Amino acid sequence: MADDRFVLTDGQAHDLAYRYGTPLYIVSESGLRSRIKRWKSAFDSAWPGAEITFASKANSTLAVLAIAHQEGCLIDVASEGELRAALAAGVPASRCHLHGNNKSSAEIRFAVESGIGQIVVDNFEEIEVIAGLPEPRPEIIIRLAPGVEPKTNAKISTGQADTKFGFNINDLSAERALLRCLRLGLNVVGFHCHVGSQLLDPGAQISGGEIIAEFAARMKSSHGFEAKILNVGGGLGVRYTDNDEPMPVEDYCQAIATAVRQALEGSGLTPRLVQEPGRSIIAEAGVTLYRIGVVKTVPIKGGTRTYISVDGGLADNPRPALYGSRYEVRLITANNRPPGPDATFTVSGRHCETDRLFPDVQLPKNAQRGDLLQVLCTGAYNSVMASNYNRYARPATILVRTDGTSEMVQRPETWDEMFARETVPADLA
Ligand SMILES: Cc1ncc(COP(=O)(O)O)c(C=O)c1O
Repeated sequence: MADDRFVLTDGQAHDLAYRYGTPLYIVSESGLRSRIKRWKSAFDSAWPGAEITFASKANSTLAVLAIAHQEGCLIDVASEGELRAALAAGVPASRCHLHGNNKSSAEIRFAVESGIGQIVVDNFEEIEVIAGLPEPRPEIIIRLAPGVEPKTNAKISTGQADTKFGFNINDLSAERALLRCLRLGLNVVGFHCHVGSQLLDPGAQISGGEIIAEFAARMKSSHGFEAKILNVGGGLGVRYTDNDEPMPVEDYCQAIATAVRQALEGSGLTPRLVQEPGRSIIAEAGVTLYRIGVVKTVPIKGGTRTYISVDGGLADNPRPALYGSRYEVRLITANNRPPGPDATFTVSGRHCETDRLFPDVQLPKNAQRGDLLQVLCTGAYNSVMASNYNRYARPATILVRTDGTSEMVQRPETWDEMFARETVPADLA
């Protein structure tokens, strides 16, 4: 697939760093809009009437949610906080559905009172909670655990049988969940599965789609239940490094639609097909910009290692520490210095762990203090996972508008905000 990751020009990088400081998350509005358009057109060609839900856990910056909504996405929220973010961005609750393996009763009540489109039920307890709420009750989608093992990092695999998510099909929990909902008079509209993330091999999601379609067909023949929606989750991978080759979204949608169509053949079911990608919509539309500080060479067995320390790290991108994630890193030299030939560096963060952000990357040998580093493909699962570790403020997010201007859509945290939740007991002050 063509490499269409958003990359700042040197001029843009210097300008943004000068105006807003570093570290900085930067999102390209045109990159985001064009990805959504491409996804929608690909999926609609594969399955007319299909819908895309943006998985807001990937990036719930309000401006991002507003763009996704404007481009016609539904919004997948996985907590009351994500629902509140969608509402704050101007998305009607009716365009959202609520996920979560341990939703609190208060969370469910808030979603229902807000007019949530659907609740994706994940366990028997929440079925009872929803049934106990006054009318009008929300539409229900039942999350299934299809029992497939995706080829991806184990920490982002969710569709296997040994999972906390959804109802197991093989031990009949899924069928019992459907029957319980129907007995309680809940308005079940369909089924859902999500097998995992950063899928460069679509096999597991195709199998997941087939399995939930077969289940839907069986529920029709056994119980006369007609699923109107089949949501096969998100998961399409992205190009974090030049070695990652994500499947073109057109082929991906075709493959899933074909599998689901075949599995439904003869069932008489004509559901709306839904996918809820997060990463593949927003990751490649974002970059992170850091400034280089200390450069230090240390002896290691058989040679030396040169550490480049940047003014961010674990607190603004925990993915390398969590998953061993790799990224593409590019140098932007200060003062128009021509970059030299490449050498191997380890880019580390400023936090009190090893905080090796990007080990063994190739960068121009003359990288030095004051230069900028841009890290590609950081639009997803970066700003939403940021913390205040070591009491560093969470960075700003800049939206590069379609006309090339920039706008700060999330300002950096202030010191007042950092300490606003805390008090020192009087006798300690
Ligand atoms: C239920 C569900 N849907 C969608 C997604 C989005 O996955 P991705 O960002 O890989 O597309 C996730 C990710 O964890 C998920 O758990």
